[in-house]
Amino acid sequence: MMTIIFYSVIFALIATLSHKFLTGDGDFTLLLKGKVKRESFQDKVVWITGASRGIGEVLAKQLATLGAKIIISARNEAELERVKKHISGKHGPEGVEILPLDLSSGEDAIGDAVEKAVSLFGGAGVDYMIHNAAFERPKSTALDVPEASLKATLDVNVMGPISLTRLLLPHMLKRGRGHFVVMSSAAGKAPAPGQAVYSASKFALNGYFHSLRSELYQKGIMVTVVCPGPIETSNAPDTSTSGQRGVREKRVSSERCAELTLVAASHGLKEAWISFQPVLAVMYLVQYMPSVGFWLMDKIGAKRVETAAQKGNTYSMNLLFGRKKE
Ligand SMILES: NC(=O)c1ccc[n+]([C@@H]2O[C@H](COP(=O)([O-])OP(=O)(O)OC[C@H]3O[C@@H](n4cnc5c(N)ncnc54)[C@H](OP(=O)(O)O)[C@@H]3O)[C@@H](O)[C@H]2O)c1
Repeated sequence: MMTIIFYSVIFALIATLSHKFLTGDGDFTLLLKGKVKRESFQDKVVWITGASRGIGEVLAKQLATLGAKIIISARNEAELERVKKHISGKHGPEGVEILPLDLSSGEDAIGDAVEKAVSLFGGAGVDYMIHNAAFERPKSTALDVPEASLKATLDVNVMGPISLTRLLLPHMLKRGRGHFVVMSSAAGKAPAPGQAVYSASKFALNGYFHSLRSELYQKGIMVTVVCPGPIETSNAPDTSTSGQRGVREKRVSSERCAELTLVAASHGLKEAWISFQPVLAVMYLVQYMPSVGFWLMDKIGAKRVETAAQKGNTYSMNLLFGRKKE
């Protein structure tokens, strides 16, 4: 009898975990954390780059609702004004400051923005820095990436956030606290055929920020690296009219992505993955069974680039099993 109960419990546990793994939209640790800890953001100053649209815009809205004071940055000031108008939170319009910034404009301009940011809200300083901005990410083979696009990607995705961090850190260290939330990508954990330079930029961010945390954690500096897979934003590719009719890329909504990002940061997670399958499974494979993960990516890589060129579903299982296109 005891043996039957034992095996039933094990079976139920495996069934629950498998169901969560197949249907979940994040890694196990993240999903186990539950809700955002509101008190982590209440009355805190949060600076978000890339807040003029997409995930950054949604993050700004959710943070305002959680009682944070927000600084929103991007290049397009008119879009930042639009975002500000749509934000309602505990602090009202006074709780949102617009700070235009081009992350590729070099250290002097970034330094000026940092000095401005720390002086806002009566010189309160920055509690959270959300590095969210990124250069556009068109898909092409690694060989076809023009030099200008290569440089622009690395400037906006890597050099800009690192310069900003180096200039902001002394202010945080003086206060003995600060938290960097880094919007990386699944492409920063696993190969992303068709997006080699974007992937390189996100691997670089992961390496820099995990190292930075290990150097400064004892001094009160926290880092949360967030790695989303495909997310539904206004500029997500529409694959519904492609050769794979009716097969849309399955994407996590930007609202859910922002919510899980804030769950991860408020619970002090060092890394969090946000995605549906099959991307999540690939991330687990590459992390824990790299030989199998890299074998799989080598098998589908060329087909994925081809599918991207035809505006097809680049996350489809068909890439692996090679079903003929209709
Ligand atoms: N969407 C996805 O499927 C997905 C998946 C994984 C990871 N991510 C990551 O999540 C983050 C947000 O993605 P998203 O899809 O919401 O991005 P998005 O809609 O393309 O928005 C990018 C943001 O970055 C800003 N930006 C671009 N170039 C800039 C520059 N030179 N200086 C300053 N700001 C600049 C843009 O504003 P301006 O043009 O006004 O400057 C915009 O606000 C990115 O880091 C991205 O890599 C997204």
